[in-house]
Amino acid sequence: MTYKIAVIAGDGIGPEVVDEGLKVLRCVADMEGFNFETKDYPWGAEHYLKTGETHPESAYSEYREMDAILLGAIGDPRIEVGLLEREIIAGVRFTLDLFVNLRPIKCMADHICPIKNKKASDIDMVVVRENTEGAYSQVGGIFKKGTKEEVAIAEMIYTRHGVERVIRYAYELAMTRPRKQLTLCDKANAIRPQDLWTRVFEEVGKEYPEITTDHAYVDAACMWMIKNPEAFDTVVTTNLFGDIITDLGSVLQGGMGVAASGNINPSGVSMFEPIHGSAPKYKGQNKANPIATVAAVAMLLDHLGETSSARKIEAAIEHLIVSKEIPDLSSRSGLKTSEIGDMICETLKK
Ligand code: IPM
Ligand code: MN
Repeated sequence: MTYKIAVIAGDGIGPEVVDEGLKVLRCVADMEGFNFETKDYPWGAEHYLKTGETHPESAYSEYREMDAILLGAIGDPRIEVGLLEREIIAGVRFTLDLFVNLRPIKCMADHICPIKNKKASDIDMVVVRENTEGAYSQVGGIFKKGTKEEVAIAEMIYTRHGVERVIRYAYELAMTRPRKQLTLCDKANAIRPQDLWTRVFEEVGKEYPEITTDHAYVDAACMWMIKNPEAFDTVVTTNLFGDIITDLGSVLQGGMGVAASGNINPSGVSMFEPIHGSAPKYKGQNKANPIATVAAVAMLLDHLGETSSARKIEAAIEHLIVSKEIPDLSSRSGLKTSEIGDMICETLKK
């Protein structure tokens, strides 16, 4: 079996963390006896500055022929705010209809748990973030820009189809987890059209009587995630709220250096990426923690059905954190990006 993987290494620290992700992928592929080939795509700031192109349409038909996409990071201070992020990250999410953004939040060791009187086992949740609509719809604009009458409109769009499919995905996911618990996170008290989420959640829930359901307004969810993180197992939420609460969640699991995500279309090609950004100030310094990207590779393998490889990578990361061989998960650990990749490979082979 030879998997075809599209690689968008991107900007800033993207290329260096992606190198380590691919190093670990090579290592586990050799151990487990599957093969893969990669195709590199140059999208990002350098490519844009050279050619004026952000992300060509033509790449989509190529991705569709492949098994998965691995993305590093996109964003560069030299370029207009949000242009590359919108056209590359959001572009791929929307065009390939990657309607689930799956973001596990699991703390692997007590000593990295940032909350007083909580332990690692209290933090084990997964956020199912809607990924193709909501506040990211790009519907809106600015009227009378620069004048005193200026009006800025940004619409949040929720479709019955979009809400139902992501909620159904979350129920299915909750069924596979031991606690069988699903929390809807919204702000339907203030944003009344989010009542669509309330109703669909309840309606679809009738098909899953085994699941215990719960609800948290997003502001309260932020409070509970710190105060009582053990209250959460599977969480389903809107695009914007999912974006926000998973940055909070990344700190619960040890920081942006370890938080991974999958942009998933259950019946098409999916894209996997670290949650962190391009961190331009660390670019080329071999300092960034590649664990988030390696964990994204594990999610990618899980998605391809290579579950034993995925579990092995996760176990290797967990071992290195628990044993404190990787003592610090930030970019100040003193360990080089490439050293961490090597350590994960060596641990895999043990
Ligand atoms: C993320 C990022 C993106 C988002 C940005 C870069 C557009 O923050 O993947 O969480 O908001 O979705
Ligand atoms: Mn984000």
